[in-house]
Amino acid sequence: MKKLISVLFAVMSAAMLMACGSSAKGSSLTVEDGVLTMATNAYFPPYEYYEGDTITGIDAEIAQAVADKLGLKLKIEDMEFDSIITAVSTGKADMGLAGMTVTEERKKNVNFSDTYATGVQVVIVKEDSDIASIDDLQGKKIGVQLSTTGDIYCTDDFGSENVEEYNKGNDAVMALVSGKVDAVVIDNEPAKSYVAANEGLKILETEYVTEDYAAALNKDNTELLEQINGALKELKDEGKLDEIISKYIKSE
Ligand code: ARG
Repeated sequence: MKKLISVLFAVMSAAMLMACGSSAKGSSLTVEDGVLTMATNAYFPPYEYYEGDTITGIDAEIAQAVADKLGLKLKIEDMEFDSIITAVSTGKADMGLAGMTVTEERKKNVNFSDTYATGVQVVIVKEDSDIASIDDLQGKKIGVQLSTTGDIYCTDDFGSENVEEYNKGNDAVMALVSGKVDAVVIDNEPAKSYVAANEGLKILETEYVTEDYAAALNKDNTELLEQINGALKELKDEGKLDEIISKYIKSE
């Protein structure tokens, strides 16, 4: 009996220690100084883009609405898309919000919030291109944004020797316009704005991959993850999420 009690006691104190440990860690990581720092790559309309010096778009507005709900100030930090996961996992940013797709690989380094939007990888080509389907991409030069899912899928499916990586989606589109690449694989909404902004381009009707967008959070900061999921749910229930999205994405 005595033995049992001491074992129980040991288990209980270990559990208590663990509980204290994790909550102390969690609270030390939960948003400092009342400022929610969002890491993004602001060349991804309509999710995030510059209007003058200000970063605006769906993600910027959702982040602001989330920050308001949590009583926090929002600070947006623009960086290469490739740096966002590192910024979040090293604690330089509280949250990555960048039209970012949930992937198993990324889940090794960050946690993802509930999903707030859907994205589709599509193919942009010149209007007179002989590329008419995904299969036609075989052996062609494909432009992508570095480290995006478009980059990852195309490298897997068509070989890295056929994939040209650019830091910004727009740079990949410029390479298509000037004939350096034969196609660009990118998310559907930015694709639409690039095609609208440049003459002689079109989007193939066949969709490549459908995916979920979510906020990336530090693995240790589960408290913030719950707070953000709570805020997202409220925004969804209030219709605010739809309102923000439909302000930027007009249904055809
Ligand atoms: N959805 C794609 C991904 O997660 C592309 C996101 C690019 N976002 C950006 N803000 N540049 O890989």
